[in-house]
Amino acid sequence: MRMYDLIMRKRNGEELDEQEIRFMIQEYVAGAIPDYQMSAMLMAIYFRGMSDLETAVLTDAVAHSGDMVDLSGIEGIKVDKHSTGGVGDKTTLVIAPIVAACGVKVAKMSGRGLGHTGGTVDKLEAIPGMQTSLDTKTFFDIVNKTGLSVVGQSGNLAPADKKLYALRDVTATVDSIPLIAASIMSKKLAAGNDCILLDVKTGSGAFMKSLEDSILLAQKMVAIGEHAGKRTVALITDMDIPLGFAIGNAMEVAEAVDTLNGTGPADLTEVCISLAANMLFLANKGSMEECQTLAEDSIRSGRALSKLIEMVEAQGGDSKVIRNPQEFVQAKYSKEIRAEQTGFITHINTEKCGIASVALGAGRETKESQIDYAAGILLKKKYGEYVNQGDLLAIMFAEETSKFDAAQNMILDAYQIGANSPEEKPLIFARVGKDGVEKFD
Ligand code: URA
Repeated sequence: MRMYDLIMRKRNGEELDEQEIRFMIQEYVAGAIPDYQMSAMLMAIYFRGMSDLETAVLTDAVAHSGDMVDLSGIEGIKVDKHSTGGVGDKTTLVIAPIVAACGVKVAKMSGRGLGHTGGTVDKLEAIPGMQTSLDTKTFFDIVNKTGLSVVGQSGNLAPADKKLYALRDVTATVDSIPLIAASIMSKKLAAGNDCILLDVKTGSGAFMKSLEDSILLAQKMVAIGEHAGKRTVALITDMDIPLGFAIGNAMEVAEAVDTLNGTGPADLTEVCISLAANMLFLANKGSMEECQTLAEDSIRSGRALSKLIEMVEAQGGDSKVIRNPQEFVQAKYSKEIRAEQTGFITHINTEKCGIASVALGAGRETKESQIDYAAGILLKKKYGEYVNQGDLLAIMFAEETSKFDAAQNMILDAYQIGANSPEEKPLIFARVGKDGVEKFD
């Protein structure tokens, strides 16, 4: 078999068979297929697409390129959750404790920030002492004892995805639906959970900017999960504006704590309750309505917040900052951003806010960059609010004042202010399961 022939067949719009896809992935990971040939293949896939069967085989081949985690050492049904990535997306920090407080085990591997989007592992590491790299025994022991643990991905989870992702990043082939679906689901299948809840973000801060593409991506991923024998559901949630008010690692943990205290932002609370209820539903905890009530009760009773504290302490973190988020290290400098005109906020470009937060130090500009956990942006006005010229829109936090100018320009550029009040938009657009798409208005 020759990679040249496979590239030509895909370029001509033909379907690759199972043997060909497995050959391509095995040989690429082994170093026998060079990056230039794989780049050509990725571009051919970008333009020609992949059938459901091709995507399922690609996902399986990428998943099996490394360790397949065996979670059978943890009792009960294990439910995973994955977000396709966003800005201000601290949902895992809220949902995992809710689900664990309702008696469903969460053994979750999360990622770091990517591009303009944040990552759960970076947020967790804002907690002093918090360990996110645990050996398997410790990870299992913590889940069995406390009901939850969230760690970074192990070194050998889907190594083919690591190589392919790096190549896609530099060959303009990231935003291909079959490639995103295979990339995300290969890691989910390798992570070994029984059920998977996908949070597919849509809008200006998401990889998928349109609702139609987000639904297509969700359908592909649900089909892959179900094909692999995992109950899989996807919610399509808004990422057209940032979720909550905080963008930046320590501030996002603090906002997650507020939400677990019942005093968090309304949008974040609504999305988290819905995601958690769907995870509980997948774990057979009752009807959707019953699961929603379970999730809400876990916040009201304080049990969900106690679960987060238990997890932080079990992973070596200092729970003082969870009990009192004022204890988080504070940024050396802050700067206010004020509205340049009067009117309604008609849009907040989320990708621009994400890039501005990275520029302030909350994310990595290069692979080697150190994250500044205290850096970021606190939004003070959101979509639909009325502002007068000079009103406070947002506050920036950084370790050096030199970072403020560029970030301020991006944030001012992100805020659109107009004369008319914009229409109300839903936070959750649709639910995609194996039986179809349910749209919410
Ligand atoms: N997240 C992933 O893990 N892979 C993609 O391709 C896009 C987002």
